[in-house]
Amino acid sequence: MKMWIKRLHLTNFRNYNAAEIDLHPKLDIFVGHNAQGKTNLLEAMYILAMSKSYRTGREEELIFHSEASALIRGRVERNADVDLTVAVSRSSPKKLLVNDKATNSSKFVGRLNVVLFTPDSLQLIKGSPGDRRRVLDVQICQTDAVYRSNLLKYQRVVRQRNQLLKNAAASRAALKQLPIWNEQLADLASRIMASRENVVKRLSSLAAEIHNRLTGERESLHIAYLPFSKAHSARSSHESSLDYHRLMLAELQNQHLLEIQRGYTLVGPHRDDLLFTIDGRDAKTYASQGQQRTAVLSYKLAEMELMRLETGEYPVVLLDDVMSELDRQRRAFLVEILNKKAQTIITTTHLGSFSDEILADAAIFGIEAGRIAERGNGDVSALRQ
Ligand SMILES: Nc1ncnc2c1ncn2[C@@H]1O[C@H](COP(=O)(O)OP(=O)(O)O)[C@@H](O)[C@H]1O
Ligand SMILES: [Mg+2]
Repeated sequence: MKMWIKRLHLTNFRNYNAAEIDLHPKLDIFVGHNAQGKTNLLEAMYILAMSKSYRTGREEELIFHSEASALIRGRVERNADVDLTVAVSRSSPKKLLVNDKATNSSKFVGRLNVVLFTPDSLQLIKGSPGDRRRVLDVQICQTDAVYRSNLLKYQRVVRQRNQLLKNAAASRAALKQLPIWNEQLADLASRIMASRENVVKRLSSLAAEIHNRLTGERESLHIAYLPFSKAHSARSSHESSLDYHRLMLAELQNQHLLEIQRGYTLVGPHRDDLLFTIDGRDAKTYASQGQQRTAVLSYKLAEMELMRLETGEYPVVLLDDVMSELDRQRRAFLVEILNKKAQTIITTTHLGSFSDEILADAAIFGIEAGRIAERGNGDVSALRQ
């Protein structure tokens, strides 16, 4: 089973004034020159999944120049079909609707699941711990509403606790409140950490299997969850929130003076990381660009498989301009598995990297200055140039 986006409707979103498209359940390819709206289109689909963009936190940016509001609507076919709407306005808060009824983000997120793969996804290996945490959180939040709610609460507690720590150096009253906040912090942190450890373990074994096939058994990929506390990660696996709760309280005690001196929270999963190794060596430092790219591809396909295990349906896979970076063999492999399993939405500047076989079973659209037009087979050879 898979979920798929059947129809997408954009009004004054980014450079689209009015666009309405019917999508193909298997493969949809959007072809266009630079700055025509390819990434904008995938961004709209991502927003339907996560209720917010991955490109900007300033939502006015999503609204077409000088217009008052933007609308993204999508019909998702799955076990129970669903209409999703996100409305952004310059003058009022964002609105989220499921089947035309207003709802909050915790009830909205999860109706559509996506896996996003862009040239930036390489940051999963090359980037900062924050880049890796974000990718992991986006994935877990889509299928685990409890995790998402804990994460949001945790972020709020960290902010408030930081405020307290800033005052604690000068105020005894603030210092006295700290134990209560520590308890809350440890409670939420331990749940988040146990989930992350569990998910990364499953992701790692799925990714290892896929990476094996992608590299013809020549490389072995492993992904490890690295909790913020190095002392802890050196020990064997725990995976119990009870252990993490104890760890949090112990570390909060160890770092007590330093936290007050610095005025912010030093302990907790907002400092976690993931470690990618290929044949036992840290992929960030030792792997070539090509190896890193393949590892990210393995990770993304593992995300897709894990989401299916969690929900019973394959997510929609969004590939932004990544086909030309993969070699022929990986490209063919990718399209073949995606074609069989998930609805795949691909953007590209030219169709040169797609075989006739692939194109025969796909819907092909041209994008030009925020206008989308479906192309018949006759157009395809022209788009190939
Ligand atoms: N709020 C907006 N209103 C109008 N145009 C916008 C807005 N945001 C972005 N754009 C335009 O969208 C275009 C970039 O679209 P994008 O999807 O990133 O291009 P690409 O096809 O290269 O992926 C640029 O021309 C940019 O000016
Ligand atoms: Mg782009």
